[in-house]
Amino acid sequence: MTNRKKIAAGNWKMHKTFAEGQGLAQEIRTMADTELMNDAQLLIFPPYIHLQGLAKQLEGSKIGIGAQNINQFEQGAYTGEVSASMLTSIGIHYTLVGHSERRQYYNETNDSCAAKIVIALKHTIVPVYCIGETLTERETNQHFSIVEDQLHALKGLSNEDISKCIIAYEPVWAIGTGVTASSDQANEMHKHIRVVLTRLFDEHIAQGISILYGGSVKPDNAKELFSQSDIDGALIGGAALASRDFINIAKSF
Ligand code: PGA
Repeated sequence: MTNRKKIAAGNWKMHKTFAEGQGLAQEIRTMADTELMNDAQLLIFPPYIHLQGLAKQLEGSKIGIGAQNINQFEQGAYTGEVSASMLTSIGIHYTLVGHSERRQYYNETNDSCAAKIVIALKHTIVPVYCIGETLTERETNQHFSIVEDQLHALKGLSNEDISKCIIAYEPVWAIGTGVTASSDQANEMHKHIRVVLTRLFDEHIAQGISILYGGSVKPDNAKELFSQSDIDGALIGGAALASRDFINIAKSF
């Protein structure tokens, strides 16, 4: 691994009441302070309504906090949506973009993701851009081209902006299923992502970006995944809901 940032990111999805979220955040903070000796960066992505409270609670800690989604417009008549400036106004500087569940259930496309990435960066929010193929796409050998198409959402960015982004490769067939991509399969795709980024930007940019793997990452498979040349961390769903598992994954670098 180069000097790329190592990141363990927890996507809480639609889990935890506020009180439960406060408890989980506190446990993670305590364990991170007392046990986490490596330089892994911890990020959590709780539901929107927890963000302000948890950002306050985690002030001064090593844990970064982000939103699970962001709207692509500055403001306006978009009932139920949350804008970039609302997020920064409560101290939030990370967001997931294009998680497969949002692509699947809320019709997010590569184009809408591209717009979300642009507005996030404009407002000093780091986008964690989620990409990955479905099972059918892998079985029909389209996985490399699907991921390449998804990466084209980044195409118009300046070198300065793309360098701020984080990419998460999450094969849809591995999310929440208990099936993990093998470390070889994951690393092969991460390498492909760097090839595409080299084409879209340059080698230096491609080698500098942190690419996380996501999809049934657990404490018992994290070490093997993190030992791969091009895997810089994980985006963790289920296992991020238990402080012990989340910290043990972060300790696996
Ligand atoms: P999982 O979810 O770890 O539960 O598979 C990963 C994700 O959706 O980000």
